[in-house]
Amino acid sequence: MKLADNKATLSFSNGSPSVEMPVYQGSIGPDVIDIRKLYAQTGMFTYDPGFLSTASCQSAITFIDGDKGELLYRGYPIEQLATQCDFMETCHLLLYGDLPNASKKAEFSKTVRMHTMVNEQMQFFLRGFRRDAHPMAIMTGLVGALSAFYHDSTDINNPEHRDISAIRLIAKMPTLVAMAYKYSVGQPFMYPKNELSYAGNFLHMMFATPCEPYTVSPVLERALDRIFILHADHEQNASTSTVRLCGSSGTNPFAAIAAGVACLWGPAHGGANEACLNMLEDIQKMGGVSKVGEFMEKVKDKNSGVKLMGFGHRVYKNYDPRAKLMQETCKEVLQELGLENDPLFKLAMQLEKIALEDEYFVSRKLYPNVDFYSGIVQRAIGIPVGLFTAVFALARTVGWIAQLNEMIGDPEYKIGRPRQLFTGSERRDVKPLAGR
Ligand code: SDX
Repeated sequence: MKLADNKATLSFSNGSPSVEMPVYQGSIGPDVIDIRKLYAQTGMFTYDPGFLSTASCQSAITFIDGDKGELLYRGYPIEQLATQCDFMETCHLLLYGDLPNASKKAEFSKTVRMHTMVNEQMQFFLRGFRRDAHPMAIMTGLVGALSAFYHDSTDINNPEHRDISAIRLIAKMPTLVAMAYKYSVGQPFMYPKNELSYAGNFLHMMFATPCEPYTVSPVLERALDRIFILHADHEQNASTSTVRLCGSSGTNPFAAIAAGVACLWGPAHGGANEACLNMLEDIQKMGGVSKVGEFMEKVKDKNSGVKLMGFGHRVYKNYDPRAKLMQETCKEVLQELGLENDPLFKLAMQLEKIALEDEYFVSRKLYPNVDFYSGIVQRAIGIPVGLFTAVFALARTVGWIAQLNEMIGDPEYKIGRPRQLFTGSERRDVKPLAGR
């Protein structure tokens, strides 16, 4: 980061001495005011619950311009990556900083393929869960359990350990998600088939059985690969910040990623794709498009607690570019499967149309986000609703790992330890039980 010519001066109306703070510039996006010395100089903290105005780190991986609706992975626009590259190229880009050439792509893809199997012991963890356990409960457990199998690579201060852990996590997430699915439907686990692509292997492990030959549909394979690209990274979102904070204690990468999985599960974050599809199905049951107006009135009524899931975003105050690409993928997949009249897709488009013309949404700059259409296309592919967020976690693993490795690779990093504004009881003495 570069020192700006500008400086920030903080003055106090009570006559306390003013404080001068340096301003730093990034390559693009807002400058930052460096407040690291503020507490030492003033005895005061800044206060920013939810971190609406706080940069937690410097990063060179992903940039979002919320006003323009722009998303760049290492400088490349998401629209170009999603249409001209595949997920393996995107993983290489996020991890190492640039798109691979053909030979580097082949080498990287081969390395990932050589790590797709999990230890045979992993299957016994699943037996502890009920068959109807939520896949994200299973994934939180399985990803954390990985750390029990790789004692040879849990020192995150060792660059080689960081690299092999990244490869292992990217390679094994599809295998684990497919195992969670097979366990829920009582079918045998399918081993990875390494002659298949990353997305093709996932489809095979999800939908193949030992009894029948299974052919990967190129359309579904391409659609899933694009879904992975669109979900791969997204700056300092809640789950990525969780991974960074967790990893800052020096814990192993598998434990840090397990923390990210747990955070992503929430309906305000990655769990929104599941919540959005359930919302669409509820409206459909109530009567479909004819009930949209009634539903929207509930959404606008603060006391209802009802939100239009898949809409709104902390950073995007314009259309989430991923939502546009997801809608296109939706159309392609539904067309290919002869489902272009899918009632939920029509309902979603009607909801979007009404919302984008409604003052409540326009005034709050609420647009569809990545979760609004992703559930419809995953459902068309045959992925059950409960697995949507696990697929999101599968794709986001490369972003989490790239961000974790970027932090650990920075010699200046420290353990994250925020402070607070204390509003509880002042010091008081304990009364003996008889006197209370
Ligand atoms: C993801 O951070 C990331 O980058 C996340 C993500 C990623 O790739 O990692 O992009 C993935 O998590 C996408 C977001 C998925 N979540 C949802 O779709 C759930 C529904 N959306 C909301 O819960 C909400 O929009 C958030 C959580 C996404 C953002 O919340 P903020 O930034 O805290 O905004 P807010 O709640 O303060 O909303 C501002 C106003 C409020 O109204 P007022 O109090 O000003 O009157 O907009 C309203 C909110 O009530 N509002 C909504 C709404 N989202 C915001 N009203 C109805 N429906 C919604 N969806």
